[in-house]
Amino acid sequence: MNHLISSSILSADFGCLEKDISMVNESASDWIHCDIMDGVFVPNISFGFPVVEYVKKVSAKPLDVHLMIVDPDRYLRRWKETGADILTVQYEACIHLHRTVSEIRILGMKAGVAVNPHTPVSLLNNILPYVDMILIMTVNPGFGGQTFIMECYNKIAELRKMIDDRGLDVLIQVDGGVDTENASRLVRTGVNVLVAGNTIFSSDNPSETIRRLKYPE
Ligand code: DX5
Ligand code: ZN
Repeated sequence: MNHLISSSILSADFGCLEKDISMVNESASDWIHCDIMDGVFVPNISFGFPVVEYVKKVSAKPLDVHLMIVDPDRYLRRWKETGADILTVQYEACIHLHRTVSEIRILGMKAGVAVNPHTPVSLLNNILPYVDMILIMTVNPGFGGQTFIMECYNKIAELRKMIDDRGLDVLIQVDGGVDTENASRLVRTGVNVLVAGNTIFSSDNPSETIRRLKYPE
């Protein structure tokens, strides 16, 4: 399967969001990534339901919603109603993770689980058959534009093997510090979905940057 690109609007211009989303709509991006931060799980607050509702209205691409919040169970149905197609929760924020991902699927969304850079992928062994995607955080969550943590290549390779050895159909997504330099190595290591924010929205030609992430040399 060809890898997918999920453009993170965290780095978009919120004064002209419609313009940035039309660019993504017309680009090679497969999904739109929405980062939800509560100021508790991560030391930052991003945006919430009204913004994502608007994004859904103007977006032609599936919404990939990444919850960096404590107690995500309180809002699963609300995210479905807001327009999430893929809903990812943080492993570290879920006490009853199996219940959470099951509920996400029952609500009709794809279920993702994200792991922080320090969380070993071996802890995912028992949840893998119940999820559609694992998100390996390649920076500490909370901010766009941070530097990729190199140790994450080992985690990606280890998770790729865990998934393939069991013949499971689970996507591997990476998020944080992805750019046109590391895209190709990430895909060769086993990544299926590249999230990118800063590298796209700070570039002079964002849709060309998306194309280069999608078709790296
Ligand atoms: C970080 C967020 C990311 C962020 C990626 O906490 O989860 O989705 O937007 O940003 P870049 O591509 O700027 O590192
Ligand atoms: Zn994210």
